[in-house]
Amino acid sequence: VALPVTPPKAARVAAIVPAAGIGKRLKFRYRKSFVPLAGRPMLFWSLRALERSPEIDGIVVVVHRSDIAATERLIAQARFKKVIRVVTGGATRTASVANGLKVLPKEFQWVAVHDAARPLVTPEVVAATVKAARNYGAAIAAVPVVPTVKEAVNSQRSRQRRQGLWVKRTLNRNHLWAVQTPQVFRRGLLEKAHRHAQANGVSATDDSALVEALGNRVRIILGSSRNIKITTPEDLLVAEALLRALSN
Ligand code: CTP
Ligand code: MG
Repeated sequence: VALPVTPPKAARVAAIVPAAGIGKRLKFRYRKSFVPLAGRPMLFWSLRALERSPEIDGIVVVVHRSDIAATERLIAQARFKKVIRVVTGGATRTASVANGLKVLPKEFQWVAVHDAARPLVTPEVVAATVKAARNYGAAIAAVPVVPTVKEAVNSQRSRQRRQGLWVKRTLNRNHLWAVQTPQVFRRGLLEKAHRHAQANGVSATDDSALVEALGNRVRIILGSSRNIKITTPEDLLVAEALLRALSN
C-alpha cells in the first residue's frame, strides 16, 4: 500500500514564528532571537523543534528588518528544510504575527504560532496542540500555575499610611493556567481574529486572546514545564542548563 508522503492540502499546518522582538528585558547586546544559547542562536533551537515536528509542513519566520540576512544564513547553515518565508516583523508581537499571516501560501489551512523565545518546546507538545486544534478549531499549550497568585490594588488614597500595594484577593489557583506557545488555529479563525484586533486597535501578548475576543472557544492542552519562555537573564541560564542536559 502506497502511503501519502505529504498530507492532503486542506490538512497542511504552517508554523508562524514571531522572532522580531528586541528583547529589552534580556538586556543582552544582541536582539533576543540571536542571543547564543548552548552555542547556537536562540532562534536555531525554536526552528529545530519545528523542523523535527512531523505535524509541521512549512515555517514562516518573522524577524527584525536588520536580521533578515542573518536569519537566511542560519537557515541555510542548519539545512532547515521547512522554512518557506522570512519576513519583517512589526512594532508589536501581534503585528509581527499578522505580517506572517499575510505571506502564508493558500494551501496552509492551519497555523501554529510559536514564539522564538520558547526554544525548549518539544515535538510532543507541538503534536498534541495540533491534534487538539484539529478537533476543536483552536488549541493552546499551557501548564498549571504553580505559585499562589494574588490580585493587588495600588491604593491612590492620599493618607500616607494607605499608599502603596495592597492585596485585593487571592485567586483560585485551580483555575489558573500559564499559557505557552504553540497556539494552533484554523487559519480562517486566526485571520478573522487579527482583522478584528486591527480594526479595534487591539494588541495582545498572545493570539488566543484575539480569538477569545471574537467569542470563540479555545481548548487548553497540557504543555511542558521545560517549555519556558526566555524573558530575563536568569531565564537564559535555566534554558542553557536544560538544553545541555536534555538535547542530544
Ligand atoms: N515579537 C515579535 N515582534 C515584536 C515583539 C515581539 O515578533 N514586535 C516576538 C519575540 O521575538 C518573541 C515573542 O514575540 O519571540 C514574545 O515576545 P517577548 O518575549 O516579549 O520578546 P521581546 O518583545 O523581544 O522581549 P521584550 O518584551 O523584553 O523586549
Ligand atoms: Mg515583548
